[in-house]
Amino acid sequence: MSTNIDNKVVVITGASSGLGEATARHLAARGAAVVLGARRTDKLEQIAAEIRATGGKAEVLATDVTRKEQVQALVDHAVRVFGRVDVLINNAGLMAIAPLDEVKTDEWDRMIDINVKGVLYGIAAALPQFRQQNSGHFINIASVAGVKVFSPGGTVYSGTKFAVRAISEGLRHEVGGSIRTTTIEPGAVDSELKHGSSHQQSAQFVKEFYKLAIPADAVARAIAYAIEQPADVDINEIVLRPTVQEF
Ligand SMILES: NC(=O)c1ccc[n+]([C@@H]2O[C@H](COP(=O)([O-])OP(=O)(O)OC[C@H]3O[C@@H](n4cnc5c(N)ncnc54)[C@H](OP(=O)(O)O)[C@@H]3O)[C@@H](O)[C@H]2O)c1
Repeated sequence: MSTNIDNKVVVITGASSGLGEATARHLAARGAAVVLGARRTDKLEQIAAEIRATGGKAEVLATDVTRKEQVQALVDHAVRVFGRVDVLINNAGLMAIAPLDEVKTDEWDRMIDINVKGVLYGIAAALPQFRQQNSGHFINIASVAGVKVFSPGGTVYSGTKFAVRAISEGLRHEVGGSIRTTTIEPGAVDSELKHGSSHQQSAQFVKEFYKLAIPADAVARAIAYAIEQPADVDINEIVLRPTVQEF
């Protein structure tokens, strides 16, 4: 059966684990050609090989989203191989939880570089291509921590995710017409994200909290729902949580 996902070219940053990996597998199984970016190319190659083994289309490119030329190269690679880009999923992210009093400024820098500037570099790379095609779909991964401040500990992470929502809403407003923008705001989802905190007490808290996490597939299905709508329907925001999650 042909769907609005079949044959779409979908570029995914942070596709080597968690939500990005699950989304790549889900969309590829539904007929999308996926182009996977992350730093761990061994993981990307393995995921792509498994997708191809079941008849899917997958390409990989080493991509550090803090390097704008690498994000541009990822989008360019998709265009070179498949001729177009239909969807860019700005998914790469880091969650380093610690109270502000710990002044972990290196981690603040990394979260801002990956979670905020990485998304902007994705927009910079794909927007001219989308304009040229007169179509395209940005899907930016924010968080429930971008709806409600996750403090103490998650203040800077929340700041980056509030920024993603603000940028996404401005993007939607500025480029709407033929280009769609969706922001996904997940609650606790099982992935490697929970291992990103160097502050021991916070890491322990996160480990306990994530016992209620739902599988990454849940986010993949939400993303598929946004993509499969007809071109004149733009799903702007999806918030999803484990049913038992309060925050
Ligand atoms: N899991 C949750 O509960 C949850 C909830 C809300 C929002 N989110 C958001 O969902 C997104 C995906 O996270 P996840 O939960 O799937 O965590 P994850 O399993 O840790 O995945 C993070 C991905 O980002 C990539 N990444 C990290 N730094 C990168 C960089 N500099 N350049 C390129 N890729 C980079 C990692 O790949 P490499 O290390 O190979 O580069 C990995 O593929 C993040 O934006 C996160 O904030 C997650």
